Amino acid sequence: MKRRVAILISGRGSNMAALIRAAAAEDFPAKIVVVISNRADAGGLEKARASGIPTATIESKSFGKDRAAFETALQSALDEHKVDLICLGGFMRLFTTGFVQRWYGRMLNIHPSLLPSFPGLDPHGQALKAGVKISGATVHFVIPETDAGPILMQGAVAVRDDDTPDALAARILEVEHRIYPDALRLVAGGRIRLDGDTCKTAGSAASDATLISPAAG
Ligand code: GAR
Repeated sequence: MKRRVAILISGRGSNMAALIRAAAAEDFPAKIVVVISNRADAGGLEKARASGIPTATIESKSFGKDRAAFETALQSALDEHKVDLICLGGFMRLFTTGFVQRWYGRMLNIHPSLLPSFPGLDPHGQALKAGVKISGATVHFVIPETDAGPILMQGAVAVRDDDTPDALAARILEVEHRIYPDALRLVAGGRIRLDGDTCKTAGSAASDATLISPAAG
């Protein structure tokens, strides 16, 4: 039985598109059953419709500061589509602790840094300012703290001396589009075990890949 997934977006939805593409494969253990946006003008909505995925818009603006009321509306949309798992893809709205606890272990997020480094806004600018030589992206389970929680998968890129936030973001985005579908495959396939604050993966081949940056040669 494929797990039923909702993708929550606020913007262009490139990670959403990567998840939809991956889930189109017959052997993928999850099906994207709905894309929900908290903004009517999110570019990803049109992309989702073009892929034949049902969409819903729940304008968070109209709920003002009442997060719980927004989440009640969101929960009914999730119930209506019998959602098992949530993937956040650039969803720019904070949840209440109650909502996060309700979905603990069933709600994934992607963030464009190697967490726990550089959570929050402008992670690429933060990475360049800190002078790290390697950065990347992280898929994690969502906990009440923003951009934190048990890590499912990470991918890394070398940071270049002449990088700008945009150039670094573009290279990391390519990594995001690879690891988010892979992480969802693991979760939906029942291969992730939560062990306290960390995740263990069943049957993953150990990787001996090494990324050294900068190259000294
Ligand atoms: C992605 O880079 C994602 O990692 C980031 O927003 C972007 C959304 O792009 N998420 C966060 O920063 C979460 N704190 P997309 O709409 O093209 O997927």
